[in-house]
This record gives sequence, structure tokens and C-alpha cells, in this order.
Amino acid sequence: MDVALSLLRYRLDESARTTLRDIVSGLPALRRISRPLSERLSRHEATIRRELSSAGARQTLAAGMASGFLAYLLDRYQYVRPSASDKRAVLDAYRAMTEVIPDAATDLAGALQHVIGQHHDRLRLITIGMLDKVGALDDVLDGAEPICRQYSPALQCRVLGLTDDDLAGPLLDIGCGETAELVGFLRGHGCAAFGIDRLAPAGDHTMRGDWFDLPMVAGGWRTIVAHLSFSLHFIHAHLHAEDEARRYAVAYMSILERLQPGGSFVYAPSLPFIEPLLDPRRFRVEVKPVRPSPDEAWSSCRVTRLDDR
Ligand SMILES: C[S@@+](CC[C@H](N)C(=O)[O-])C[C@H]1O[C@@H](n2cnc3c(N)ncnc32)[C@H](O)[C@@H]1O
Repeated sequence: MDVALSLLRYRLDESARTTLRDIVSGLPALRRISRPLSERLSRHEATIRRELSSAGARQTLAAGMASGFLAYLLDRYQYVRPSASDKRAVLDAYRAMTEVIPDAATDLAGALQHVIGQHHDRLRLITIGMLDKVGALDDVLDGAEPICRQYSPALQCRVLGLTDDDLAGPLLDIGCGETAELVGFLRGHGCAAFGIDRLAPAGDHTMRGDWFDLPMVAGGWRTIVAHLSFSLHFIHAHLHAEDEARRYAVAYMSILERLQPGGSFVYAPSLPFIEPLLDPRRFRVEVKPVRPSPDEAWSSCRVTRLDDR
């Protein structure tokens, strides 16, 4: 599939500066194939048809493009949460486009020129649906792109204020990041640490998964940590989307229920709209400023489970 992939890379390079706002507002350039790309398609038409003659090859290409698009979306707007049906819809959109290839009687470039507009219309509507669900549409139209980053273990430990007692384990890092830096660091210090993230590959100590469906451990987790992950997304939902915020509130309580008695959920930023509502007979809440400077005031929080209910 070398030639097809190189032309795909060419198209991606051409559209490297595409913003989410461009996609949502249906930027005309995205709905067209450029002249240089069209010329390349015509020149290599026979090879492309041969490379993509089998349904398997076309499906592989469509699946690769769909997962690339979803990765782009999560990278550009980290609060988006594509459902299984969103992911299927994105894949279907790419499949519909690649299936034009064997059907195009003549002039592959012309046939693709024709479907790429429809393809982007579909992708646009799916993207709008995903952004709308988390209340992000206005932000995106205003040009906001809250990107996702990973932070050093040293910084995470400092912000969270982890103690030796936390390191007794087992410890779960939720939203640990693709490379689970903190998990690796803590394991290097003898802690039975594990991580879960929707982007992390499955490994001995990491799970690819969703924090709405967290793993249990016999006897409960000693410590659950979440640095700029669960609580950051909860705040976004609280400010933007009521239904989503309700889901986060339920998930927050189920995290606390997964702690062993005496265990803690340690996270940053803190959640001032829910922490005061916790039953003080069951949970101790300690909020600490991370940076005391007035313009960058934000806090971490440690919620310790007191009971064994
Ligand atoms: C800003 S990053 C922080 C990563 C890490 N905690 C750090 O501080 O370096 C937020 C992480 O949350 C993950 N994430 C977002 N939504 C998630 C979900 N629903 N379930 C699991 N992980 C999620 C993202 O994939 C991303 O790795």
C-alpha cells in the first residue's frame, strides 16, 4: 500500500494546520482535493487501484484513517469522549470513501474529488455531535483547543503531595497518560502502582480503559491518584454539560468506594463544588494550594475514606 499511503501522507501534510474550528465550520479547502494531489492521483491511478483492489486492504486503510482522525480529535480537544457508536460512525465515513476506489469506472481523482465533500460533511456532523455532547461546540467555534499533555513524575508527586503511606500500594493512577510516567517512576520506588488511560497501551501495569469503568482490587486501592485528568475533565463537564457532570459525580463517588478504609483519592485540581458535600463521617477532605500566587491559585485535594462500609 506504499503509494496509497504516501499520497495520504501528502494530503495530511497539506492539511497539517487544520483546526477543529475548520472542521466544524466546513472549511471549503477540506472538501476539495488540491490540484497537485489530483495530479499525483492520476499519475499513480493504476498502482493505487492495484494496492487497494482487495476489500481487506481498503478496510485496513479506512481503519487507519479513522483511528488517526480520532487521535487528532482527542489531541486537539481533550474533553471529547467518543462513544462506541461515534467511533463506528467515523469508521463508516472512511469506509464509504475508500469503497469508491473499486467502483470508480474511470478517473479515480475525479471520483474522489466527488466523494471527499460528502465525506467531510459526514465527519463534520459526527464531530459536532461529539463536541456538543460535552458542551464544547461554542469553545471550539471560539478557537479553543485544550490539548492534552503529560507531566514529569517529579512534578506530579509535588503537586499531589504523595506520602510514603500512599506508596504502600496498591496505587491506581487514573488518566495516567499514554506512557504512564508516574506509574513507572513509583514502581521504580517499590510501589505496586498501576495505571489506566484511554490512550495507554495494555501492559503488565497499565490498562487501556475508561475511568467510568475502573478496575477493582481485592481489599480496595490504598491510593488512587489523578493528576490533571479525572478532576480536570469533571470541572469541564460541570461548567459545560449537565448530563456529563452527573456522570462524573457518580464516577467520583464510585472512585471513593473503591478505596480501602484509610485509603485516599489524591487529585488535582480540586473540586470545590463537590468536596463540601461529602459526608464528614465517611470522608476527610484536605485541600492544599498548589501555587499560592493570586493569579495562578489552584489546589490539589486528598479525600481519605474513614469508614469500612
Ligand atoms: C492532561 S493528561 C494528564 C496525564 C497524566 N496524568 C500526567 O499528568 O502526565 C489527561 C489524560 O487523561 C486521559 N483521559 C481522558 N479521558 C479519559 C477517560 N474517559 N478515561 C481514561 N483516561 C482518560 C487522557 O488520555 C490523558 O492521557
